[in-house]
Amino acid sequence: MEDKIKALHELMESSLSKVKDKSELSDFWQTYFSKKGKISELMKGLGKVSKEERPAVGKIINDFKVSAKARYREVEQILEKKELELRNKAETIDITLPAKKREKGCLHPITLVKNQMIDVFAGMGFEIFEGPEIEDESHNFTRLNVPENHPARDMQDTFYVADGILLRTHTSPGQIRVMDTEKPPIKVLVPGRVFRSDSDATHSPMFHQMEGLVIDRKITLCDLQGMLDKFVRNIFGESVRTRLRPSYFPFTEPSVEVDVSCFECGGKGCNLCKQTGWIEVLGGGIVHPKVLENGGIDPNEYSGLAFGIGIERIAMLKYGINNIGLFFENDLRFLSQFRD
Ligand code: DAH
Repeated sequence: MEDKIKALHELMESSLSKVKDKSELSDFWQTYFSKKGKISELMKGLGKVSKEERPAVGKIINDFKVSAKARYREVEQILEKKELELRNKAETIDITLPAKKREKGCLHPITLVKNQMIDVFAGMGFEIFEGPEIEDESHNFTRLNVPENHPARDMQDTFYVADGILLRTHTSPGQIRVMDTEKPPIKVLVPGRVFRSDSDATHSPMFHQMEGLVIDRKITLCDLQGMLDKFVRNIFGESVRTRLRPSYFPFTEPSVEVDVSCFECGGKGCNLCKQTGWIEVLGGGIVHPKVLENGGIDPNEYSGLAFGIGIERIAMLKYGINNIGLFFENDLRFLSQFRD
């Protein structure tokens, strides 16, 4: 028995010295220490040893088992160390390599223009209000003085989502929502997405507007022009002027179309202003008394001004963009030009 153990000891040492990696080490464990392994086999052989010798032989086997396990752990640690060294070597960082460049993002041109607009009007004391994109006919049309079956509803090609429910065609319903919750003096901006069934180089089914509403005592068209003067100078440059032309919107009376003197040619006439010296930029007017009434405000006491600005239109003019689709294609070659 002792000879057998000695032979096994030698065999173990020689096979352990050949172990090169973890999988071979695990094979070694199977061969020696598993239930059917060589050490269990020795234990089973103990039955054949005489009673007197059994304790001594048992001890020898046990000592062998303990020392074999210790050797196993030693080899295991050496292998682990080797593996770690190899891994560290493979992961060495070459500090001379050029750094990976992380591209800086930038704001979308619509966001840039929207923020600039908000800045100008916030400087005049306007607050921001945001209404829902899904509206009812009452807020989008009726209470804005566009009666049912009135042809003015056809001015805006509406997307209906259910009976009487639609995607807002403009930010003007924000006027009604503000009047429902606030008392004059009111001075709000309503930015947001609007939707119309319309699509060409300058129209998109979804676009952005910025509504303005001011209600107080003795508000006049002069207030409107003064505020819009300030706005266009901030956006297009100090030398531009505004011009009001009569127009029609159901929710304002009088209604005006606001032109800005051409910032490209200074008013002499060029391709951008179609030789007129003026560029149409937005619509506005004095809030119709019926709209004030619909918002629970007494038109004999208060008057208001309102305007609606197409954000894409301003951005297209400001940056010389001729196709509205570019804003929504998310082509980085286009968008990255607005990095500041
Ligand atoms: N809601 C109008 C549109 O989408 C724009 C507009 C015109 C808004 C005149 C106004 C306004 O507040 O007074 O075409």
